[in-house]
Amino acid sequence: MPRTKLIAANWKMYKTPDHTRAFFRDFLPQVSGHTRDEIVVCPPYLDLTAALDAAKGSNVAIGAQNVHWKDEGAFTGEISAPMLLTLNVTHAIVGHSERRQYFGETDDTVNLRLKAALEAGLTPICCVGEVLEEREAGLTDDVLRRQCVRAFHAISAKKAARLVVAYEPVWAIGTGKTATPELAAEAHAVIRKEATEIFGEEFASNLRILYGGSVKPENASALMAQEEIDGALVGGASLDPKSFAAIVKY
Ligand code: 13P
Repeated sequence: MPRTKLIAANWKMYKTPDHTRAFFRDFLPQVSGHTRDEIVVCPPYLDLTAALDAAKGSNVAIGAQNVHWKDEGAFTGEISAPMLLTLNVTHAIVGHSERRQYFGETDDTVNLRLKAALEAGLTPICCVGEVLEEREAGLTDDVLRRQCVRAFHAISAKKAARLVVAYEPVWAIGTGKTATPELAAEAHAVIRKEATEIFGEEFASNLRILYGGSVKPENASALMAQEEIDGALVGGASLDPKSFAAIVKY
């Protein structure tokens, strides 16, 4: 069975609720009837309600950009899985490199967040990827293996059923430098091999691994043509409805 591709937007810290409504007014008619791929938009928390209202009844699901591992508590600035579920959020990005780089997220907190998201029934999009120095030092495979082992620690294949992984080489994020389709596919194969060792062959053959890092309408079809690439996690180019629709329809 071929894996259904998932095309996800990560809006990062962009757009207000008004901008969100305007985006969906423009975007939804462009992708209505598009059933080939799953479409997910992950706006800032502030915009979740506007996004969910706007996308109701459509073929676009809404995700959060992070999720905490506790259901509730004294964790200023955090949002929990049960809170997201009350809104009907279905997806959550976990371990994005910007969280790791700027907000002290570690392999261990990624593991905790991932476990909580899976337990709650959210579909986590777990991000892994090497920084430029690691790639240049020939450490890419080691880094990807380590990030997977640590992120998936103590999670069973049964629990992980909804897991989605995103390979996002940090040097390609927001830089306009995309990994070539071949280079991305090689990294995806490393991740899939690690998933095979951890969760077994059947699980790994169904696991969706997205590519993220300067995906644009111009390079989307070449990336998506790779058998190893099961979709995209799109930053900058997802902010504009026309360009994100063009990526969805690559
Ligand atoms: P860009 O598409 O802006 O490079 O961002 C990629 C990303 O970080 C998606 O999560």
